[in-house]
Amino acid sequence: MSRTSVPPRRARTALLAAGALVLAGLGAVSVMQSPASAAGLQCSVGYSVNDWGGGFTANVSVTNAGTTAIDGWALTYAYSGNQTLTSGWSANWTQSGKNVTVTNLDWNKTLAPGGSTSFGGNFNYSGTNTAPTAFAVNGTPCNGGTSTGSPTPTPTDSTSPSPSPSTSTPPATGDLVDNPYVGAGVYVDPEWSAKAAAEPSGTKISNQPTAVWLDRIAAINGANGSMGLRAHLDEAVKQAAGKPLVVQLVIYDLPGRDCSALASNGELGPTDIDRYEHEYIDPIATILSDPAYKDLRIVNTIEPDSLPNLVTNVSPRPTATPACDVMKANGNYVTGVGYALAHLGGVGNVYNYLDAGHHGWIGWDDNFAPTAQLMHQAATTSGATVDDVQGVIANTANYGATTEPYFTIDDTVNGTSVRQSKWVDWNRYVDEQTYAQAFRTAMVTAGFNSSVGALIDTSRNGWGGANRPTGPAAKTTLDGYVDGSRTDRRFHLGNWCNQSGAGIGERPKAAPAVGIDAYVWVKPPGQSDGASSAIANDEGKGFDRMCDPTYTGNVRNGNSMSGALPNAPLAGHWFSAQFQELLKNAYPAL
Ligand code: BGC
Repeated sequence: MSRTSVPPRRARTALLAAGALVLAGLGAVSVMQSPASAAGLQCSVGYSVNDWGGGFTANVSVTNAGTTAIDGWALTYAYSGNQTLTSGWSANWTQSGKNVTVTNLDWNKTLAPGGSTSFGGNFNYSGTNTAPTAFAVNGTPCNGGTSTGSPTPTPTDSTSPSPSPSTSTPPATGDLVDNPYVGAGVYVDPEWSAKAAAEPSGTKISNQPTAVWLDRIAAINGANGSMGLRAHLDEAVKQAAGKPLVVQLVIYDLPGRDCSALASNGELGPTDIDRYEHEYIDPIATILSDPAYKDLRIVNTIEPDSLPNLVTNVSPRPTATPACDVMKANGNYVTGVGYALAHLGGVGNVYNYLDAGHHGWIGWDDNFAPTAQLMHQAATTSGATVDDVQGVIANTANYGATTEPYFTIDDTVNGTSVRQSKWVDWNRYVDEQTYAQAFRTAMVTAGFNSSVGALIDTSRNGWGGANRPTGPAAKTTLDGYVDGSRTDRRFHLGNWCNQSGAGIGERPKAAPAVGIDAYVWVKPPGQSDGASSAIANDEGKGFDRMCDPTYTGNVRNGNSMSGALPNAPLAGHWFSAQFQELLKNAYPAL
């Protein structure tokens, strides 16, 4: 694509360097502590900083260098200056005067021999930011040689007596590319692929890349026997085989999730922001920062539907829901998205794309710029900066056509704009591509880097099959023209659940159009949007009548029929009939 400005991560490095101090390499200094040689507990501590002058992030790791497990740990060290803790993650951080104490969380309590864990903290300071040189774990000094000034220590070989520094130093930041999809393969999720391949004709698409949804805390380690994040990343390293590979993740577990609907309500209640940050985002950030994965290009879709809901489904709008009013008032969507951006974006090889709903939701003037502005607010909250955002994704898990080939927003019928038709209803856009391109520009206006790009989820927006128009309809009446020309055959643009008549859309593709980084398959075809009747479950999922084919609708879909397929299982569960429907109606045809 034709974006010409510097990549965001480079822009940030340049900015930092222009500030108070110029640091070696990519702005990090590191201190390695070698293991204590005394018997009993043996430890090594890695300490490196990303310093922007007046403040810094300390990336710290503790390695068990002994031969017995450490079960519960407290790291202590002291600063010589006025460094002041502002926030910490992946451990409990406290400070008393110059002394800093960091203790384990439940999930990183045990360190097997040779095992390590990484965590981080943000600090303010003035004057000089001298790195601490003495660390202790459970009171035992991790003494030994000290080295400074090497941001990326070379891994030691297996005969080295000291633990490999590669386990205690996060990957270098600074080498994000403009469009991660260009020149790269994309990870094929073996679990989805196997399910698709087991369907009749499923092998037509089973080798396509789809996203991995981290839709609950348990998904990080693998819920119900399925692959966890590390298992996916290990498999991705194999698939990469030394070449660039994008791995697509969906970050999806905000407190009070899915506030305008019920089908994808989540496990965390509206006020569970601490759990979101420390039991969900922190462990993901820790895994992603494992140097074993530093060559993967991690692309995150950040929290589908969350910020758009705060724009459109809140009081005094007629579309308001009590749950969205709660999430707006308590700020936890904005806080959580900011936290996710800051902590995932802090990993050097992560690309974050914020979710912008789809054109049939945010494409109206009242919703469009306010969504971009709210994204900017989130991207400057909880320590995030615009450099933590590489773009926007449109149509996640939705059905809006990528392009409408037979009519445009500028068409008129007998002098009246198609914007006045029932279907368009004053929207500014008729398809996802024109929407995503314009939204990208709106983000730049709102303060994001000019290098941001857009993704479009094309997994289920194909609209082929027998009912697809083959050309523009006659311009006899306004609604007749629009309804006869549109390829999107939904009853209403607001319909979102297991849509009847939908097909597989454009195959995943890098840089397909100006401003578009890629067509991607984020919603895995064959996974349900929601159950068509109430089903008891332990995932927090509710029953939304938008998934019931007999439902006659609500204010958010113009009181239209839901258009949903019958007999659907819970959101995320395999729905064979939908998979078949999607294959049948694929466009382009398979
Ligand atoms: C569900 C998730 C699922 C995702 C992908 C969402 O609607 O709530 O549980 O992982 O879809 O299928």
